[in-house]
Amino acid sequence: MDYYQLLFAIGAVVLAIYYHHISIYSYWKNRGIIGPKPQPFFGNFWNIVNRKYAIATAVKNWYHEFKHEPVFGIYEGRTPLLVINDLELVKDVLIRDFSSFMDRGFVVNEKIEPLAQHLFILESERWRPLRSKLSPIFTSGKLKEMFPLVVECAGNLEKFLDRVANNGEPVECREMAAKFTTDVIGSCAFGISMNALEDDDSEFRRMGRQLFMPTFKPIIRNIIRQFAPSLLNVFGRFLQSTEIDNFFISLVHDTMEYRENNNVNRPDMINMLMELRKHPDKVNSIELTDTLLAAQAFVFFVAGFETSSSTMGHALYELAQHQDVQDKLRQEIRDTYKKNGGTLTYADIKEMKYMDKVFKETLRKYPILTMLNRQAMENYTFKGTKITIPKGMKIWVPVYGIQTDPDIYPEPEKFDPERFEDDAAAARHPMSFLPFGDGPRNCIGARFAHIQSKVGLATILRNHKVDVCEKTTIPYEPDKRAFLLSLKGGVNLRISKVQS
Ligand code: HEM
Repeated sequence: MDYYQLLFAIGAVVLAIYYHHISIYSYWKNRGIIGPKPQPFFGNFWNIVNRKYAIATAVKNWYHEFKHEPVFGIYEGRTPLLVINDLELVKDVLIRDFSSFMDRGFVVNEKIEPLAQHLFILESERWRPLRSKLSPIFTSGKLKEMFPLVVECAGNLEKFLDRVANNGEPVECREMAAKFTTDVIGSCAFGISMNALEDDDSEFRRMGRQLFMPTFKPIIRNIIRQFAPSLLNVFGRFLQSTEIDNFFISLVHDTMEYRENNNVNRPDMINMLMELRKHPDKVNSIELTDTLLAAQAFVFFVAGFETSSSTMGHALYELAQHQDVQDKLRQEIRDTYKKNGGTLTYADIKEMKYMDKVFKETLRKYPILTMLNRQAMENYTFKGTKITIPKGMKIWVPVYGIQTDPDIYPEPEKFDPERFEDDAAAARHPMSFLPFGDGPRNCIGARFAHIQSKVGLATILRNHKVDVCEKTTIPYEPDKRAFLLSLKGGVNLRISKVQS
C-alpha cells in the first residue's frame, strides 16, 4: 500500500465513524418531529457546555421558537429527548398517565456517588415505597409542630439584618437567605443548630456552598454523566467529593446513634428515618442501608435550602425594583404581626394573601428548576396524536418557557402579583404554573418551602427596606454556570431600617 492509499483508507475510516456518529441526528426528522439543529457529540448542548448561555436560556428560547408544535425533539449528546409543549400532553405525562412516566432517567453510579440514591433520583421501584413513607413529614400537623423552629431561626435573621442594615454596604441577599434556610433545614430536618447566620464559617453553609459551587470536578462529572455515561464508571471516582459524602453519612449515623442512646424524640426527618430503620417491613423489599437513609436526609438538605433561598433572593430582587409592591406587602406583614401582638403564627402564613401572590409571581418569573424531567417506562403513544415514543425515552416539560409565554402570561417580563388573583389564576390551564412540578412525583417539600420562604420574607420586610444599588445586576442575567436558575453575581441590594 503506498502513501496515498493509506491516507485514503484513514480518511474513509474517519468519515465512516463521523457519519455513524451523526446518523442519530436524523432520529427526530425521520419521525416528522422538528427541533433545533444539533451539533456533533454534544447535540443541542454545545452552547450550554461552552457557557455561551445558561440551560435556563436554552429552555426558554427553544420553547419560544417551537411553542406552536405540541412537542419538539432535541439531542442530549447523542440521546434523543422529547420536549412537551402542549399543556394537555403535559398533564398526561405528569398526572393522568403517570404510571408510564414514573422515572426521571438519571444515570448514577451508587458505588461512587453513595448519596445520589435519593428520592429525586431513585428509580420507581425504590422511589414509590420511600416516597409514601416520607410524605407524612410534610403534613399540616407536622408542619405546625415545626413552625416554632422556623420562627426561632427568623429571630437570628432579624439580628443579622440589624447588623448589616444601614452600614452603607450592599448585601448579597441570596446568600443571606441561604444562611437562613440552612439554619431552618438544620433545625427541622436534623434537629441541629447549624448556626449559619451567626457564624460565617459554619460547616453546613460551607458544605452547602460547595454543593452548588460549579467547580472543576462536578462540572466534568456532569458532562461525562450527560454525554458519555458509560465513562462514569471509569472516571467517576476521581471526580467525587468524598468530603461531602463522609460529612453527611457520619452526620446522619451519629445523630441517629445519639438519639437512640439518649431516647431523644423530635418530630423531624431523622426521626422518620429512624422509624423506617426500626420497621424495614414498612418499605417492601428495599434494603434500608444506612447510606440509603443518609441519602434521603441529604436530599432534604440540598433541595430544601438552595431552592427556597434562591426564590427569596428573586423576590427581594423584584421588590427592590417595585417599591409600590414592597410597601403593600410590608403593610400586610405589619397588620398581621399587629393582630397577634407582635408574633407570627402558622395560620397567618395562609392568611397573608398578598404575600402568596408575590411568592407565586416570583416563582412564575423565576422557576428555580427550569424544566421537569421524566422517562418513559414503556412504549407510549401521545393521546390524539400519531407521536409514539419507545420505552426509555427522556422527556422534558419546559417550565421556564411556558411560564414566560406571552399567550399565557401577557407581558411576561412584567412583575405583576395580580396575575395570581384567584379568578385570574383559575382561568389559566393548571399546567401553566409548575414551579413545584405536578402529579405524584411533584416537590415533596412544596408546603415547607412556602412556610420557610414566607416567614423569611416577612422577617426581612417587616422592619427593613430593600433597594437596588450600583452593584445590582439589571437586567436579569442567569448564571451560565448554574443548573438551577440564579442571578449572575448574586442579588446585591441595599438594606435599610424603616420606622414602625
Ligand atoms: C421554593 C422552593 C422549592 C422549589 C421551587 C422546588 C421545586 C421542585 C421541583 C420543580 C421538583 C420536581 C418536581 C417534578 O418533577 O414534578 C422538586 C422535587 C423535589 N423537591 Fe423541591 N422545591 C423547593 C423546595 C423544596 C424543599 C424545602 C424540600 C425539602 C425540604 C424539597 C424537596 C424535594 C424533593 C425530595 C424532591 C424530589 C421528589 C420526588 O422525586 O419524589 N424541595 N422540587
